[in-house]
Amino acid sequence: MSATLHAPEAPAGGSRTRREVRTVRVALAGCGTVGGELVRLLDRSAAAIRARHGLRFELASVLVRDPARERPAKLPPGLVTTDVAEFLAADVDLVVEAIGGLDPATRIAREALASGRRLVTANKALVAAHGPELAALARRSGTRLDFESAVGGGIPVIRSLRDSLGLTGISAVRGILNGTSNYVLTRLGEGWRYADALADAQARGFAEADPERDVSGQDAADKLRILAWLAFGTEPSTLPVRRRGIVPHPDRLARAASVAGGVLRLVGEAALTDEGVVASVEPVVVAAGSDLGRTRDEENAVVVASRWNGSVRLSGPGAGGSPTASALLGDMLRGAQRLPRPASTPAAPTDRRAHRWVIGVSGRCTDEGFLARTLARAGMVAATLGRADGDLFVGTGAHPWPRVDLALRALEASGCSPVAARWESAPADG
Ligand SMILES: NC(=O)c1ccc[n+]([C@@H]2O[C@H](COP(=O)([O-])OP(=O)(O)OC[C@H]3O[C@@H](n4cnc5c(N)ncnc54)[C@H](OP(=O)(O)O)[C@@H]3O)[C@@H](O)[C@H]2O)c1
Repeated sequence: MSATLHAPEAPAGGSRTRREVRTVRVALAGCGTVGGELVRLLDRSAAAIRARHGLRFELASVLVRDPARERPAKLPPGLVTTDVAEFLAADVDLVVEAIGGLDPATRIAREALASGRRLVTANKALVAAHGPELAALARRSGTRLDFESAVGGGIPVIRSLRDSLGLTGISAVRGILNGTSNYVLTRLGEGWRYADALADAQARGFAEADPERDVSGQDAADKLRILAWLAFGTEPSTLPVRRRGIVPHPDRLARAASVAGGVLRLVGEAALTDEGVVASVEPVVVAAGSDLGRTRDEENAVVVASRWNGSVRLSGPGAGGSPTASALLGDMLRGAQRLPRPASTPAAPTDRRAHRWVIGVSGRCTDEGFLARTLARAGMVAATLGRADGDLFVGTGAHPWPRVDLALRALEASGCSPVAARWESAPADG
């Protein structure tokens, strides 16, 4: 049995030209946090995938451990199996692996690729242990291996290294690669105790019941090995990584950071030195306003420094079912992506969003009373911010663009040569 997660057919006689839709049969290993979310996402996005990319994903088999566990409503029970051999025997084009660990994930990966099927995986342990071997197998079989979601959840860091940054002369890759420990460290920076911060992370779903791999730095080390492989061509399974986690003394480390005037982060770093690639995962005190210091809660960030491209920072949701499933879907679409085909040009909608503004005027308009009256006629309130180089600057209340546009036209007509900028740094009150 197989199930098609698809959109209804375009209505006959509809205005849109019907494009040929290609069906891709998919076997999904693992239907937990990530796999379950992927099933929901495929269902939700079926119409968009079909319209934009001309594809229809059809689930043919789903491998789980416990057949009695509750699954997403959209998953027909007839697809579920606990038998790896039966799962691998399914007639599919693409295998998605979202089980985790090495067994049976390694067997699934090898057999899928050896038989010429594409493999998309979220499994950093698998890629850190067997990435190059699996990539070579994929090449030999004329298929592909993709693992965007294995590092940085929904942040497109693998794709960036593979496609665009890989040949820019990378000198270092560093970042916050584990959302659980970053969430805990953010709380410690606010004065929480470790036990309470960890319990909070677990209650919010940012930490597993056993957080050992996260707080010991093992999870970040796996991800760092993958990044170093893509950046420097090092063999991930044998790259030595100096690894020190935030345990066993997280509270004391956080105090050390505070005494040193910074904030504590668990930083993974691989750098090219004269002697080769050195790699570490360890607690680092960083400035609160730095790229890594500003990376808070479960967010991840990766900074790629390169000779010809300067420093590129990628940041975003580092974990969670939904961002990770989105990255899996992106990989599933690899090779099929198309630019959107604009259906029609809608009439320009009125932008009614209100913002605060800084407005400056020059010349004879720098009389505060004149400016206030002109703005008031357009329905705007403002207070003087100051004068500079003969200009008068005011900060306004929150107003939509049409009103601001009206005021600016009036000021222009009066010869005031107005300038206006959205005021995002405005104080919250006033
Ligand atoms: N969670 C995240 O935020 C996140 C982010 C990035 C990457 N990842 C990666 O995504 C993968 C999946 O993570 P997850 O959080 O979704 O894990 P999870 O919630 O524990 O789900 C694992 C799934 O795999 C199935 N499974 C486990 N062992 C199995 C076995 N021996 N045979 C058959 N099925 C088995 C489980 O079956 P049952 O449902 O029957 O137990 C479950 O459906 C991992 O590689 C993880 O590192 C996760």
